[in-house]
Amino acid sequence: MTRAALNRSRAPVEEPTLETIRVPIADAFEQFQARWDDAFLCDVHLVGAVGAHLHRAFGKRFRPTLVLLAAKAFGAVDEEALLGAVVVELIHTATLIHDDSVDKSLVRRGLPTVNSAWSNDVAILMGDYLYSKAFSILVRARMYGAMDLLAEATHRMSQGELRQIEQRNRIDLTEAQYMRVIEEKTACLIAAGCELGAMAGGGASESQLALGRFGGAVGLAFQITDDLFDYLGAESVMGKAMGSDLEGGKITLPLINSLRNAPERDRRAMVDLIKNREFRNGHWSDVVRFVTEYGGVAYSQARSLELADQAESELKHVPDRDAREALRDAVHYAVTRHR
Ligand code: IPE
Ligand code: IPE
Ligand code: MG
Ligand code: MG
Repeated sequence: MTRAALNRSRAPVEEPTLETIRVPIADAFEQFQARWDDAFLCDVHLVGAVGAHLHRAFGKRFRPTLVLLAAKAFGAVDEEALLGAVVVELIHTATLIHDDSVDKSLVRRGLPTVNSAWSNDVAILMGDYLYSKAFSILVRARMYGAMDLLAEATHRMSQGELRQIEQRNRIDLTEAQYMRVIEEKTACLIAAGCELGAMAGGGASESQLALGRFGGAVGLAFQITDDLFDYLGAESVMGKAMGSDLEGGKITLPLINSLRNAPERDRRAMVDLIKNREFRNGHWSDVVRFVTEYGGVAYSQARSLELADQAESELKHVPDRDAREALRDAVHYAVTRHR
């Protein structure tokens, strides 16, 4: 961690909102929504029913926003960029539906998860439907470059999810092991989305790669922020259960770092508390105090800001000023968001 990254004051006068970030691509975003709905046109009733449910439980649409801005950064937002945005959000949604089934989560985006409203069977198969729909859209549109990027990204995402299962309850998990998982499960899709956006917008190959690196850094910062919320957020704001990472055996950065910093006696006590699962019986606040007092929260915040800086530095050669500023705001949003 550089001192500069820790000290830099990042807060602009106003915190960016998704609405302000989307101003340069406002029309394209509406077209995206229409194409999103088309992906659920199917004569199987369940597909439409889950689609309607997902429509009510609106996500942030952060990834398609980045795809469209990455295209606008180098040219106009064309059909390829719009389909790229749809495909990336379909893949993201598929992973959330599968993730909720694996994590046995009951609430997502303020509504019951697919596994709880229907069943695990429906969650597994609906996730598959969305994944396969995504790739079928790419084949039909002959978007082979995008397919290349997304085939690799989804493959790595499943590795990350499996690695995470393998590392469940590993209280000795290192920061490097943690970073590897979040790179795979979250950052690589955002990286691929930004790279394909730049490709669709006609950016040169160095620019496509720069946007890919941009997305990778944003994705890491985004997931670290999500992992902080799991300790500090409120279900009523986030629309999903908090405290569920530890419950599900996910050891994340705030805890990893505090375990490293805490004096031996307190560290041991926390390890015992976690091993005995006492955080479920009235000791959750002890865990939150531990990750706060021993610096895990501050370290995670600083680490996400450092990654945000890294992401911003990849935008230097973006020619379109509005898109460049919106992408900058999106970075800021990823680490200052409230949900
Ligand atoms: C949730 O992603 C999963 C993570 C990678 C942290 P989002 O926070 O983008 O979820 P939605 O789509 O807005 O619900
Ligand atoms: C992100 O991790 C999940 C995926 C990338 C699929 P989390 O398990 O932290 O996501 P949430 O908190 O359930 O949204
Ligand atoms: Mg989860
Ligand atoms: Mg989470």
